[in-house]
Amino acid sequence: MARARRASIWCCPVPPALNAEQIRDANTRYHDVAAHHYDSKWGIDFGELGLSQVTAKLRKALGREPGHFPRALEIGSGTGYFSLNLLRAGLIGEASCSDISPGMLETLAANARELGLNVDTQAADAEALPFADASFDLVLGHAVLHHIPDLQRAFTEFHRVLAPGGTVVFAGEPSRYGDKLAGVPKRAATLLAPLWRRAIGASAAPREGSGGEAALEGVVDVHAFAPGELVRMARGAGFADVRVSGEELLANWFGWTNRTLEATADPDEVPWAWRLYAYRGYLLLQDLDRRLLESRLPPALFYNLMLAAHKPVQT
Ligand SMILES: C[S@@+](CC[C@H](N)C(=O)[O-])C[C@H]1O[C@@H](n2cnc3c(N)ncnc32)[C@H](O)[C@@H]1O
Repeated sequence: MARARRASIWCCPVPPALNAEQIRDANTRYHDVAAHHYDSKWGIDFGELGLSQVTAKLRKALGREPGHFPRALEIGSGTGYFSLNLLRAGLIGEASCSDISPGMLETLAANARELGLNVDTQAADAEALPFADASFDLVLGHAVLHHIPDLQRAFTEFHRVLAPGGTVVFAGEPSRYGDKLAGVPKRAATLLAPLWRRAIGASAAPREGSGGEAALEGVVDVHAFAPGELVRMARGAGFADVRVSGEELLANWFGWTNRTLEATADPDEVPWAWRLYAYRGYLLLQDLDRRLLESRLPPALFYNLMLAAHKPVQT
């Protein structure tokens, strides 16, 4: 899936059957394995598209032009989608990228080298950050909060490492209601998949083994959020001016439908024309969501939630 679509298409959360330590361990192992093919699987882009997508998300989350943040820390930075694109856009000065998965950070470092960018990488759990108090002007993350077992502890850490007046921004977090709505296109696409494969002339995907990545997939996502829960969590950690917004509804339905169909076919046999249609269609609907729906409908309806807040200057 093009990276443009990818932000909205996280797997459905499951009730946490594991304890916090086991969830962290599952996330480390799952993402270490995923790191090798993560960028191609999710269409992570470090060109103009990635740059404009990431910049637009930051602007939307903040509700204003982002300005410049001299020192940024990313939580769950993965392979660098946000930080590397923000560095390229000149919106952040220095980037520290942290993640619980050393494998993801290795891929991030390789991506940074290829792009000629300087970043500091640190393997770290979001609940115990190895950084001094007040070290950053921006703490950010994309699609990471829903993996973290003790979010109140993590938010307290984000607050601690931010300088007074600093900004926290998270995007790409699944909303509880939006996630339920996304079940509709997923179920419909599963039913239609055999017909669709016949129409595009693709055979069924080879069956995945039950080990490794496939086995861990069901346990790494531990939350989906109601907007009010994110607000309470941020305020509970001491943040002010908390703003939660929603993004992507039609684009998400379209993306989930196509992603579910594509997952049933041998990837080598999905025609280029289909991929182009899915990619262009997603961008078109994303634009429609932004222009027509995001300012009119409540955040809870959308698939992705975004949060922005400030650490007060006087605490
Ligand atoms: C869905 S990926 C998103 C990666 C990246 N932000 C992006 O948008 O491409 C979630 C990332 O969060 C990391 N992660 C999961 N649990 C974490 C934790 N407790 N602390 C820090 N990072 C964590 C994973 O290793 C993974 O790289």
